[in-house]
Amino acid sequence: MIRSVVRGIGSALPRRIMKNTDFEGVVETSDEWIVQRTGIRQRHIAADDETTASLGEAAARAALANAGLTPDDIDLIVLATSTPNNTFPATAVEIQNRLGMRHGFAFDMQAVCSGFVYAVTTADLYIKGGLAKRVLVIGSETFSRILDWNDRSTCVLFGDGAGALVLEAQHGEGTIADHGVLAASLRSDGTHKDKLFVDGGPSTTGTVGHLKMEGREVFKHAVGMITDVIEDVFAQASISADDLDWFVPHQANKRIIDASAKKLGIAEEKAVVTVHLHGNTSAASVPLALSAAVADGRIKKGDLVMLEAMGGGFTWGAVLLRW
Ligand code: ACO
Repeated sequence: MIRSVVRGIGSALPRRIMKNTDFEGVVETSDEWIVQRTGIRQRHIAADDETTASLGEAAARAALANAGLTPDDIDLIVLATSTPNNTFPATAVEIQNRLGMRHGFAFDMQAVCSGFVYAVTTADLYIKGGLAKRVLVIGSETFSRILDWNDRSTCVLFGDGAGALVLEAQHGEGTIADHGVLAASLRSDGTHKDKLFVDGGPSTTGTVGHLKMEGREVFKHAVGMITDVIEDVFAQASISADDLDWFVPHQANKRIIDASAKKLGIAEEKAVVTVHLHGNTSAASVPLALSAAVADGRIKKGDLVMLEAMGGGFTWGAVLLRW
């Protein structure tokens, strides 16, 4: 059978680092409060010349270089983002243009923090359906542009960045020993809209709007939702937590990561954590974490890796893949 196998990975971060102490004089908060509640110590914030498209392009170029491929080798770009450069056209098409691609096709996916998990699952289906042989899957965000910088309960939590994978069609045996995407579970439930949303949009206010979040409410639902989809993936693949080599969760809050791993019986040392460095970068957080763990040699060829995310909508999902 056809499997969507990871050929390359890359990431990109804005030049400017904003530390927790840099919020002093901006809003009433402290390094201690932010670290204790979230684990976040710093985040990268885009400058005027850094956008979702430019960061996405940089991550895509890094992933292509890592794969030893060029844009000519790519058929499809799927960009997960909630902060596109423009309402339309899709920022994926802008990245396609920046890469000099005059063939193939590109589109954006919007599932907020779950965007990358949705995008990997979608790319896998395009590959399995024969519509694409090699797909650039990108998560790129500039959440700093939709934050209310007067709202201390949200502005300290998010950051900007991008990560990308090249997925390639390869033959597999149809077993759990195959490389590539092995199983996935996606969910959404719109009854939770008011707990995490942006209060503007083209069809309502005609503005971009600002992020609003009832943090405690999101927290309350997060662990249960994450563990549900991961347990579904465990069942699909007939594996247990012990079989995993790495757990690469959405990087929203260290306490959510710890509680999810504990509930699932995943050993603490298998969890890849970058939230202290990047904050919550929404659709970019999972590929940024993956990228860090590949770059430092933790994730190696043949390792079994669980990705998961949960975010606005609510949306949530998990993907199992063998590196
Ligand atoms: N600095 C200091 N105090 C603050 C700050 C701040 N930056 N922000 C809020 N506070 C205050 C609050 O006003 C509150 O004060 P009060 O008790 O006088 O009302 C107090 O701190 C405690 O607030 P809580 O909400 O109880 O704090 P909690 O421990 O729940 O932590 C947090 C808040 C970090 C937001 C947490 O709830 C959280 O991480 N929630 C989940 C967020 C998340 O995971 N989102 C993922 C999806 S993101 C996406 O999809 C885009």
